[in-house]
Amino acid sequence: MYKLAVLLSGRGSNFETILNAIKSGYIKNGEIVVVISNKSDARGLSVARENGLNAVFIDSKGKDREEYDREVVEVIKRYAADYVLLAGYMRILSSYFVRSFKDRILNIHPALLPSFKGLNAQRQAIGKGVRFSGATVHFVTENLDDGPIVVQAVVPVYSSDDEESLSKRILITEHKIYPLAVKLLTEDRIKIDKGKVFVDWDEIEDFYIMNPKIGG
Ligand code: GRF
Repeated sequence: MYKLAVLLSGRGSNFETILNAIKSGYIKNGEIVVVISNKSDARGLSVARENGLNAVFIDSKGKDREEYDREVVEVIKRYAADYVLLAGYMRILSSYFVRSFKDRILNIHPALLPSFKGLNAQRQAIGKGVRFSGATVHFVTENLDDGPIVVQAVVPVYSSDDEESLSKRILITEHKIYPLAVKLLTEDRIKIDKGKVFVDWDEIEDFYIMNPKIGG
């Protein structure tokens, strides 16, 4: 059983879907050992507490980036987590953090990387007039939103869309691909070679999620 640490700053809907996927047995080889937030009032932290999980607020006030990250890494190690899942964690990680968990940190981004890196990806997509956008789960490297891609899903962008309607449509796919990526990771189905991810899809029916022609 792999131990998972979740880092979040807000709503925590991706964390919740992963938790539900564990409860339902979809993710059968992973457990959440700690949920950490840099925001004391993050909804995700309360959800974690309500579910009897270890929920830790770590205050960033007055600390520089690496100093803060050293504290976070220490907590993750205290809970002996194998993997770190970023789920709406609104802080840039220091290289110390990334190096502490090399190839063991996943993030979800609300766009089809490498397009629209950084903040407000949905607004960027609307602003550019793209016809399709989507979501990406990727490994975290020292460059922002740039690591090896694990799973992606595509959604259409309509001319009537605004940032909110597109964000909603993308979020629905986020809630499919993040649990899927965690399932693949915890079943040892993922290999990284020369910056690319190779997945063993044997008997994984959810492969359809990534296919825009037939995916829901
Ligand atoms: C999601 O859109 C995710 O892609 C981005 O931050 C948002 C977090 O939402 N990284 P939630 O807190 O999981 O509801």
